Amino acid sequence: MSAALAEILAGLRLPEKMISPKYFYDERGSQLFDEITHLPEYYPTETELGIMLDNMPEICDLIGEKASLIEFGSGSSRKTRALLNSLHQPAVYVPVDISEDHLLLSAEKIRSEHPGLEVLPVVADFTQPFDLPDPAIMPLRNIVYFPGSTIGNFTNDIAQELLGFMYQEAGADGALLIGVDLQKDPAIIERAYNDSAGVTAQFNLNMLTHLNREFGFDFDVEAFTHSAHYDADEGRMEIRLISGKRQVVTNSDERIQIDDGESILTEYSHKYTLEGFEKMAQRAGFEVRKVWMDQGELFSVQYCVRG
Ligand code: SAH
Ligand code: AVI
Repeated sequence: MSAALAEILAGLRLPEKMISPKYFYDERGSQLFDEITHLPEYYPTETELGIMLDNMPEICDLIGEKASLIEFGSGSSRKTRALLNSLHQPAVYVPVDISEDHLLLSAEKIRSEHPGLEVLPVVADFTQPFDLPDPAIMPLRNIVYFPGSTIGNFTNDIAQELLGFMYQEAGADGALLIGVDLQKDPAIIERAYNDSAGVTAQFNLNMLTHLNREFGFDFDVEAFTHSAHYDADEGRMEIRLISGKRQVVTNSDERIQIDDGESILTEYSHKYTLEGFEKMAQRAGFEVRKVWMDQGELFSVQYCVRG
């Protein structure tokens, strides 16, 4: 049995069943996420892009010339395009993502837009140890780029570990440039995950289609509905799939009973206060050097260096 299948089965044996959000991202899941980023209710992408564009000269001056840009969870690299268009002679771009086809396609597009730039995509689960490639030109410094507030999809423990790993990757002269979604009126947040076109629901349900196809499950996908609520005490969106009937899902010799009304937790999306994120960054060894926000203070882009 593969490690991935063992991990999925272990999550389904928990008192509250859960599946890691990394299983959202097969080819279809990556496309659906792209659609989400264009939805009127989904404020994070446009807001973050706006913050980047409004502050690009300052961001690029802080990063400096001949930097390597190592991006975690690069997806379609939409914000990275804006950054690469303005950066001072970047040495290399290393997008890291679990969604292979989507990553390779995005990397190819960036190559064609920036013919002189070395682009070295890495297919990896970045919560597990993985090797970074050696670039042809030695960069002056490493910039770890982690946009989209993907950090929020991890539990606080794992997010803390990830920041520690990024601290190591950035090295002594490097930095972390990270998108961090902020706590705000819960109605704005809940709307972003309950869009009227139902794309987020499709994205959530597609996880089970992915598991049926790639890992040999037999979830009755049609019987599930999407649920997304903001827990103000935890400061996070909690996204679940609810089964509308009792079903027994099988895999190899395993039988998983799912009751009528029972849920599977598929994602957290933590929203932070500036102080809360700064504490996490500091625990990892970083000093938050600069925070940029939009006027409504919905979202932040933060530049962290070694403390
Ligand atoms: N950075 C982009 C995409 C965010 S969507 C943006 O800001 O819009 C999250 C991305 O992270 C997806 O492309 C997904 O495939 C990737 N991802 C999620 N979990 C991952 C993991 N554990 N390892 C590697 N990539 C992961
Ligand atoms: C990738 N990640 C930051 C998104 C988020 O907002 O937490 C994933 C997502 N889930 C539902 N909509 C978007």
